[in-house]
Amino acid sequence: MRNWLAHLPFNETLRPEILEYSVEMPDIPAAWDGLCLMHLSDLHFHGTPEREWYQAVLDHCQGRQPDLVLCTGDIVDGTAFHQWVGGTLGRLKWKEKGLVVLGNHDSWYGPEHLRKDLKRLGFIELGNRWEVIQVRGEPMVVGGIETPWFGGDPNMQDAPGGIFRLLLSHTPDHLHWAAGHQVDLMFAGHVHGGQVCLPAFGPLVMPSKHGRSLDRGWFQQGKTILYVSKGLGGTHPLRWNCRPEVMLVTLRRAEKSNER
Ligand SMILES: [Fe+2]
Repeated sequence: MRNWLAHLPFNETLRPEILEYSVEMPDIPAAWDGLCLMHLSDLHFHGTPEREWYQAVLDHCQGRQPDLVLCTGDIVDGTAFHQWVGGTLGRLKWKEKGLVVLGNHDSWYGPEHLRKDLKRLGFIELGNRWEVIQVRGEPMVVGGIETPWFGGDPNMQDAPGGIFRLLLSHTPDHLHWAAGHQVDLMFAGHVHGGQVCLPAFGPLVMPSKHGRSLDRGWFQQGKTILYVSKGLGGTHPLRWNCRPEVMLVTLRRAEKSNER
């Protein structure tokens, strides 16, 4: 049934796009000018697309040699598909760090086992916590927020000030929270861009308390810049006007910044 759906005319489930952006930010160290971040979300391993399809997409992206790989959850849709993780996400390489949070679908299928697998692959697992990492020799606060599906919010108010803050969140609904915690750059998924988007109407379903207002792409609140991914998979392999994606963004340092 799922394979049949995936091959419906106009279904874009098997037509990934690699999106590339450049974002100018005033508050980054000079060493981060040109820093490349790869963002993946909502892979939803469940059999369709097949493991080889994910492998081909990720192998293609590897040519960009990202500095940071960011994954914002909904990796598996079934405990049996934990065995795909090593052969897919395990192929990814990064120059600096790989960071991950889990999503609501992960919470239903052995999340603690999944966290162990991801750590074993070298990812820094950021479930409702923060830490300071070094990126090209400069400190960066990295946090993850997995509420409402896991635990409580990370105590980012305790994170050191004056350091760039990056936040991974499964849902974009935490944009207001991020803006209140001086987050500079946030990545999210969860809403899949609506997945089925009708001409002149838009997405049929949008699982966000903000409706369609944070559906896909770039947003800003205060100084916080948010990117919302359409995701790479989905529980139901049906996409119209909403191609699966991997996003690569290059940070550029705005000239007006003070030297750090
Ligand atoms: Fe999802």
